[in-house]
Amino acid sequence: MDRILLINLVYIVAAVLFIIGLKMLTSQEHARRGNLISSAGMFLAVVITLIGGEIIAFHWIIIGVIAGGIIGGFAARFVKMTQMPEMVALFNGFGGIASLLVGWGAYHSGSERDLFTMTTTFLAVLIGGVTFTGSMTAWGKLSGAVTGKPVLFRGQMIVNGILFVIILLSGALFLMTPWADYSFFAVLVVCSLILGVMAVIPIGGADMPVVISLLNSYSGIAACAAGFAIGNNILIVSGALVGASGLILTNVMCKAMNRSLGNVLFGGFGAVKEVKKAAGGRGEVKPVSAQDAYYILEAAESVVFVPGYGMAVAQAQHALRELGEILEENGAEVRYAIHPVAGRMPGHMNVLLAEADVPYEKLIEMDEINRSIASVDVCVVVGANDVVNPAAREDRNSSIYGMPIINADAAHTVIVLKRSLSPGFAGIDNPLFIKPNTRMLFGDAKSSIETLTAEFKQT
Ligand code: TAP
Repeated sequence: MDRILLINLVYIVAAVLFIIGLKMLTSQEHARRGNLISSAGMFLAVVITLIGGEIIAFHWIIIGVIAGGIIGGFAARFVKMTQMPEMVALFNGFGGIASLLVGWGAYHSGSERDLFTMTTTFLAVLIGGVTFTGSMTAWGKLSGAVTGKPVLFRGQMIVNGILFVIILLSGALFLMTPWADYSFFAVLVVCSLILGVMAVIPIGGADMPVVISLLNSYSGIAACAAGFAIGNNILIVSGALVGASGLILTNVMCKAMNRSLGNVLFGGFGAVKEVKKAAGGRGEVKPVSAQDAYYILEAAESVVFVPGYGMAVAQAQHALRELGEILEENGAEVRYAIHPVAGRMPGHMNVLLAEADVPYEKLIEMDEINRSIASVDVCVVVGANDVVNPAAREDRNSSIYGMPIINADAAHTVIVLKRSLSPGFAGIDNPLFIKPNTRMLFGDAKSSIETLTAEFKQT
């Protein structure tokens, strides 16, 4: 069989495996198998590319495989679940720089210099560069290496505008004079790297998850452009899949955080508001002892747990599952309410609860739980804060006003498990803590849950 035909047939099989795998990732039950199927597709694609006869020298590839394997193995072994968003930001950045390098390679080899190849090379370099430094900045913000607050300065929009014009000009010159030396190309690379930083520094607080998801999409689009630049079909397909799924996820998250996509896209140009304090309101914080919390739970016929970032920090998911089982033995109906941006990454709570073997059918999405939460006896908020903040509903001056939340305060009684009155990720007060039906059980979520479980076991 013709070699090119064989390669493309295998690429089609790999692409089908990617799509089947992606589809399976939409259900928790099949996600693990979906991941394996997609990996098998990628393995096929890599093998056929390596044996396809277009590789000039293998030694750099072997060095890359060893270095990448060591970094990946190290990350899988040592990176904590709470550090996954930073990890995703880094991986997006690596994807971006890889596309930039592929674009550079295509330009350097100079085998094809027609307008189409040059345009896709330009896009791979531009989007790859923005993705790289944008992701590194997002990583710095999430890891605390740079300030997580929006960085705004006078004339920011003008600087960004000038940068944009330089990129367009150097891009146009790059396309019109493909035979020229590296000068336009170098200007393009440097400006796209600066633009990545400038696009992410004004964004802070609760917008960061959307930025990570958007950068993920950018990394896919850059890879797709690189695929066109070097004429590699599987790179085009996989890049398009990442780009499209990243955009869909971005859209889902925008809705969950009440930001429009346009606002996020241009937020990088200084449109993000400073984080405002929610109106503190008047009321009294009512601490509760573990024993009194036990009495409340013991009498409950329906209990809803609302997990948040604090559950991940405390690693309280196993203890929570055990308490849930005890409550069920005690005759209560137990459900887990999942907010789409609870924690620090998409699906964070689902992953942790699945790890603790909480049955999937007990995980209820925000809209569904909100329909019945008013009839729930006790809502236990486990290290969540922003995602149950009623200011999003009630306070027009709050920076999270309009963000959909789990209406925990509508339950008959709310027990909040956290260590202090500190704010969550958005950095604002939470009036839930002073609502008349709220009780605060202060302490590390895991030890509070274990104490509650011990109370049940004693009786
Ligand atoms: P947050 O609003 O960030 O609140 C987490 C709470 O956990 C804190 O108030 C903290 O209070 C408490 N906590 C920390 N360690 C704890 C421990 N060991 N035991 C008990 N409590 C502990 O979390 P959330 O409600 O899950 O909301 C998520 C926020 O993160 C949203 O603003 C969202 O926009 C943002 N975000 C989400 C994502 C995604 S994709 N999920 C990504 C990045 C950012 P104490 O310090 O008082 O204990």
